[in-house]
Order: sequence, then structure tokens, then C-alpha cells
Amino acid sequence: MALHGILGDIHGNAEALVAALARLDACGVDDLLCVGDLVGYNADGDECVAVLRARGARCIAGNHDLIGTGLLGFERCSNKAMHSLKRTRRALGAETAAYLRALPSHIALGDLLLTHGGVRDVQQYMTQPRHIAQNALLLREDFPAARACFFGHTHEQRVYEVDGETVSEVAIDGPVRLREDRIYFVNPGSVDASRKRCVKRAECAVYDDAARELAFHRVPYDDAATESKAAAQGYRIDRWRDRLYDVQRRVIGPRHEEGETA
Ligand SMILES: [Fe+2]
Ligand SMILES: [Fe+2]
Repeated sequence: MALHGILGDIHGNAEALVAALARLDACGVDDLLCVGDLVGYNADGDECVAVLRARGARCIAGNHDLIGTGLLGFERCSNKAMHSLKRTRRALGAETAAYLRALPSHIALGDLLLTHGGVRDVQQYMTQPRHIAQNALLLREDFPAARACFFGHTHEQRVYEVDGETVSEVAIDGPVRLREDRIYFVNPGSVDASRKRCVKRAECAVYDDAARELAFHRVPYDDAATESKAAAQGYRIDRWRDRLYDVQRRVIGPRHEEGETA
């Protein structure tokens, strides 16, 4: 039995990661579980991976980790994501890239499972109850022992409860107790808030698997420092390049970007 610190969608944001880890340490977590997307969007991919490795965090691969190391192409990326991932590919150190390429797609710990997007599709956004219902079926087939499926990718803190065929969203404004006779899909939120329009907070969660209780956290961090580094180092797309990518997609298709993976 343990108190798990759950985090994901860090996206190379060192300031947000440090803030989230400080909060998880203050909560007294026993370990760290990461639902993927360690890199992409921001300038400190190497640093974030080094911190997580030094802390012994158990991580799975997100789509940005796979695209940022050339294991996936840009076909399903927005222009903004593609631009920052092209920059990420050039920036990542060899050791970081080797670590990211070796990450598993899932981690199962007892009745707890980590997945990044959908259970069988790392790039699926599970934003609606119908997506959860579909993935609950896949979860029962692929990971029959799983009762709490932690996922990322959508960057929003959420809890969905599955009771047979019925999916309902659970309020997260206080601690959430997971019933033993239900299946849950839980998103701890996004450590990186650089793409959010609201007040920037590093999001994470704590799961007490003895009490089966979840608590969500939103921690202030130095967003101005993150943004200035990302802009100075070429991770932010300007409107002209955005239009250029649109034209390239129409004329040549997304495959033209794959030539830059080497
Ligand atoms: Fe992400
Ligand atoms: Fe993702």
C-alpha cells in the first residue's frame, strides 16, 4: 500500500515540474508515476527527464515522447505541436532520447494502470463519456485486473466512474473515494500549463491506494521564465510558419515532415 504521486504532460517545463514535485513531496508521496509526454512544447526536455530519472519515477511514453524521438510521425499533430516537436528532436540529448524510446506504453501496478491516451491508441483524446465507455471495454479485455486507469494527453483534471455500461463524471473539488465495485478513469491534469489560457498552474494528483482516495493539486509556478526560454529557443511558432505548414499539408501532405526525423 502506498501514497502515489501521479503526474504527466510535463512537456519540458522544468519550472512547473519543480513546483509539482515540491507539492507531491509535501504530501509525503512514496513514489512517482508519470502518464507520459515528458517532452515537447518547452525548452527543458533533457532537464525534466533527468529530474524524473533521478527521482526514480515510473514513466510511460506519451505521443510527444514518441514523436520527439522519431518513433512516431507528425501526421496527427497540430502545427503548434509539430513546430515544437521538430525543435525538440534537434534539442534532446542522446541519453534522453534513448531513455524516452525505451519507455513502455503502459505500466500496471496491482489494480492500477497507466496509459497516455486511449488504452490502445496513444494519440486518442478521451474527452467525452463515450470515449471512456469505449476504452472501458478495451481495458477489460487488455488489462482485466485494472480498476483505476490513470491517463493523460487531454491536459484536464478529470475523474470518470464506469458502472457497467454507464459512465459518469465525478466532481473533483474535494477528495474522491474510488469504490471497489467500479472502474475509474483518472486524469491528474497537466504539469505544463503553457498552452492554457487560464491562470497557469502545474497540475498533479495524489492517490492513496490503501484508502482508495484521490486528491487533485494545482500549484503556481514561474510561467514567465518558461515562456521566455521557449520563445528564445524557437519552441513557439509564428503566424507565418503556421500558414506555411498549412500550405505544406495541403500541397504535399504531412509526410514531408518525416524527412527531418534523422
Ligand atoms: Fe500532452
Ligand atoms: Fe499527449
